[in-house]
Amino acid sequence: MIINDKKIKYKNILKKLDKYKNKDFTFSSGKIIGSMCTQPHEISTKAYIKFLDTNLGDPELFPGTNEIEIALKKYILKLLNAPKTARGITVSGGTEGNITAMWLAKELTKKNEIILSKSAHFSFKKIASLINMKIITIPLTKNYVIDINKIKNKINDNTAAIIGIAGSTELGTIDSIPQLSDISLDENIFLHVDAAFGGFIIPFLKNLNYEVTDFDFKLKGVNSISIDAHKMGYSAIPLGLLAVRKKNWLNKISVESHCINSKKQTGILGTRSGGPVAAAYAVTKFLGKKGYTKLIENCMNLTIYVESEINKIGLELITKPTMNVLGIKIKNLDEVYKKLSDLGWKVNKIDRISCLRIVVMPHISKKSIDEFIPILKKVCMEVGEI
Ligand SMILES: Cc1ncc(COP(=O)(O)O)c(C=O)c1O
Repeated sequence: MIINDKKIKYKNILKKLDKYKNKDFTFSSGKIIGSMCTQPHEISTKAYIKFLDTNLGDPELFPGTNEIEIALKKYILKLLNAPKTARGITVSGGTEGNITAMWLAKELTKKNEIILSKSAHFSFKKIASLINMKIITIPLTKNYVIDINKIKNKINDNTAAIIGIAGSTELGTIDSIPQLSDISLDENIFLHVDAAFGGFIIPFLKNLNYEVTDFDFKLKGVNSISIDAHKMGYSAIPLGLLAVRKKNWLNKISVESHCINSKKQTGILGTRSGGPVAAAYAVTKFLGKKGYTKLIENCMNLTIYVESEINKIGLELITKPTMNVLGIKIKNLDEVYKKLSDLGWKVNKIDRISCLRIVVMPHISKKSIDEFIPILKKVCMEVGEI
């Protein structure tokens, strides 16, 4: 009788979970077209489940999982042209990567001002409050990248770091990282590159002969880079890497960890699952350079198609896409957004520049776009946008 009760309870909980899950939008529906995440590659899902119960906060207990993490870091550091002295810290994503980078910059310099552009991700606002740093905002040029000419007179004795963005959250634009690198070298200032979104795109755009600027450790002034596998790395949430140019810098963000088996723990997190690490390892191994290049090629071809379809219905983009991110100029933003959302289409709303953001992620097909465009047109006509 008790066994039966337990079985019923077990089944009921799972049923209830299904009910909740059915309320969610899904990547596989093709209707989430504004997110920077995607349906993870199948192999990443399998790997995640296999390593669900591992804890990389205590790597001595999980030496096999630890080896996977070392291999994954090696892969990503190579992708970023990192020198031999460089090391990586696995993080939960761009937010933690950026926070950890600023923690490091503060510890290295003992200063507290961060210079960044208006389009920097809001995770930097959290940093300002968490570790008491001050944000100095630089305007954007007409191409929506940091205005390099406005940086020098903001540098002073309190400057801890400058941030360059390689794939902005709003429009996928890339700051002139080579020029930022020169400033970093000239002024001896820590340069962190936020490539949370663009890190798994730019190297492959280069393979496809797209004109994109350098953004990684090839540039001597770049000191650290955030890169996320759970965005264009096609892997499961949560997984990013903070790569830093010098191994010994990690001491600045490490503490003694007497109650676990290893002597020191680096970074913010303690207990953390090996699942996302195994997931990212599996997908990077499976796709490799050839697979990622093809993936990016497909996303970019579809981006070009979306751009032409948007122009055909009389709408304009904020700026020509640098990568698979498009910002559509919309005056009646709230209305258009709400109507699309009510019809089941999840785009993103960027209030600061009054645009709808579309991100052409791997789960989006031409078929989705062909369904979406007439709906966008209808909605825009209803509110007098076109
Ligand atoms: C450029 C950039 N940096 C950082 C982040 C934060 O990443 P996460 O939400 O994975 O922490 C994002 C998120 O979209 C981003 O686009």
